[in-house]
Amino acid sequence: MQTKIIKLESETTNIAEAADLIRAGELVAFPTETVYGLGADALRADAARKIYAAKGRPSDNPLIVHIADFAQLEAIAANVPEEAKVLADAFWPGPMTVIVPKNGRVPYETTGGMDTVAVRMPNHPAALRLIRESGRLIAAPSANRSGKPSPTEAAHVLCDMDGRIPLILDGGAVGIGLESTILDLTEKTPMILRPGYITKEMLEDVLHMEVKLDPGLIGADSQRRPKAPGMKYKHYAPDAELILVEGESADVVDTINALVRKMREAGKKTGVIATRETRDCYRADHVMSIGAREDEDAIARHLYKLLREFDALRVDVIYSESFQTPRIGQAIMNRLMKAAGHQVIKVEKPPKRQNERNDETI
Ligand code: TXA
Ligand code: MG
Repeated sequence: MQTKIIKLESETTNIAEAADLIRAGELVAFPTETVYGLGADALRADAARKIYAAKGRPSDNPLIVHIADFAQLEAIAANVPEEAKVLADAFWPGPMTVIVPKNGRVPYETTGGMDTVAVRMPNHPAALRLIRESGRLIAAPSANRSGKPSPTEAAHVLCDMDGRIPLILDGGAVGIGLESTILDLTEKTPMILRPGYITKEMLEDVLHMEVKLDPGLIGADSQRRPKAPGMKYKHYAPDAELILVEGESADVVDTINALVRKMREAGKKTGVIATRETRDCYRADHVMSIGAREDEDAIARHLYKLLREFDALRVDVIYSESFQTPRIGQAIMNRLMKAAGHQVIKVEKPPKRQNERNDETI
């Protein structure tokens, strides 16, 4: 199969071919504000199956249904919790997905066998047009091959899907760069199954109630399984081994440089994910800046692109600084930890020796 690319030059670029493909039960990759999605008719089992095949995705991992109108949620939910209405008013269209009980119109192929369905209204003109012009609800996971970093540019989609899908709509680089926040509304207390750009605090402010974080997300040593099936897989991962280093900035630089030296002596090709402030401090084969440390939006936007660029450079091991930024740091670190398979080195300052302490108190 030849994969065609249509460049979205303006908000009126003709996308009739994409809408026709969706109506025919075929696949179309399209931009959203978070990452590129791989879309198909959400209410057709055969179309949903094609998504799993193209991605190489395990069939127990459910898809997100994309809508352009709140009534489309009501059309596929067994019931619509009051919280969904309040949240939709505040955050839709936008990077938030809600999980609600599904009705019989949604095939189990779309929900990975679950009785609930994930729904989101994306904040991107091309995505909304594709839903409206096709007249279909569009099931769309991120448009990467299963396990790879999510695509934030059409070129990433082509890299993973060339020859596997008929069409990619190229809307340039996405705005956010991390997948939507997923919020489960099927239990008494809403629970975040995947952190994202919309934070727990933002949700709580709008709902005026407590929102929990899925305890299965906390760490590799957690005894609990994440509730979103997709969060249990090693994911967002580059081909190279990725190791996170946490600590004070100067200590992190020293530690990473020491690790790089060792690896290079062993004949390995090394990469470092640095910030604008630290990029000149490293001595690896390839050092890339993810953005300024204070600019968490830039860090989120560049993360997946950097992981893919290191793969293209065929590095063996990537060391990354960690980014516990105030607002979306939780989402950034969640993706990085998963990409790293939870390999983290915590650099702690050696405790001061007794005589040094005495000196200070003299
Ligand atoms: O930003 C996004 O959400 C992007 C764009 C394309 O919209 N989509 C995306 O889809 O990230 P995907 O398939 O890569 O991730 C969907 C996640 C998976 O972890 C899946 O397990 C979870 O949502 N999920 C979907 N339906 C669910 C359900 N009914 N219950 C629990 N988790 C669900
Ligand atoms: Mg994905």
